[in-house]
Amino acid sequence: MLIFAHRGVSAIEPENTILAFRAACTANAYGIEFDIHHVDGQLIVIHDRYLDRTTSGSGLLIEHTFAQLRQLDAGKGTIIPTLGEVLTAVANQCVINIELKGMEIEDISILFKCLDNAKKVLKLNFKNILLSSFNHHLLQAIYRQRPEFSLGALTAALPLNHAKFAQQLNAYSVHIVVDYVCAEFVLDAHQRGLKVYVYTVDKLSDIKRMKVIGVDGIFANNPKQAQLHLNQLNLK
Ligand code: G3P
Ligand code: CA
Repeated sequence: MLIFAHRGVSAIEPENTILAFRAACTANAYGIEFDIHHVDGQLIVIHDRYLDRTTSGSGLLIEHTFAQLRQLDAGKGTIIPTLGEVLTAVANQCVINIELKGMEIEDISILFKCLDNAKKVLKLNFKNILLSSFNHHLLQAIYRQRPEFSLGALTAALPLNHAKFAQQLNAYSVHIVVDYVCAEFVLDAHQRGLKVYVYTVDKLSDIKRMKVIGVDGIFANNPKQAQLHLNQLNLK
């Protein structure tokens, strides 16, 4: 079972920061997951639409300029990183799952520009990039414009047609919440040729259930701990 560091090693370092992503590389995570928003012409790495929970700032992200956002402390004295900075820090060290949160279809060209630049400058291999979103319209638009990118279709529900929506989006993987994933969903996804990645899985009992129902990967806040749990189960 593959392990993605959810928002980096967010159990130990401030989430969605370079510190958390470097820790994920040190922990030998298979991949890193993080969230991006388009603000003031830039793609920035942060989870919430509001600044209050994870930074020294407050209020809506989009009511700030990029310069104002860069003055804030995102934890342990680090700044809110840009997508470009994160790619520079971790390109080709592991799989990079970019979750598109605060973005419109018109903003996709900025994402492509950033990825294309990283390919040129950092020799970023697009095989290591997985673009995911709960906004399925965005994923559809990406596939139509740049089908070379692997897509992860997110759901926080157990849809009536199981993983059919992800197949319709030409996704590589379907990312489902731990609360609703079940054996039927995993079987359906596999029959459609999709990988199943589940969020957020930290507890031993949840990891055990994921193993039993045959999921392909998990998003964990502490990938090292999750790997230890997994090793323990593999020994049995
Ligand atoms: O991408 C998986 C997971 O991160 C989705 O939920 O709220 O943690 O971004 P959230
Ligand atoms: Ca996320």
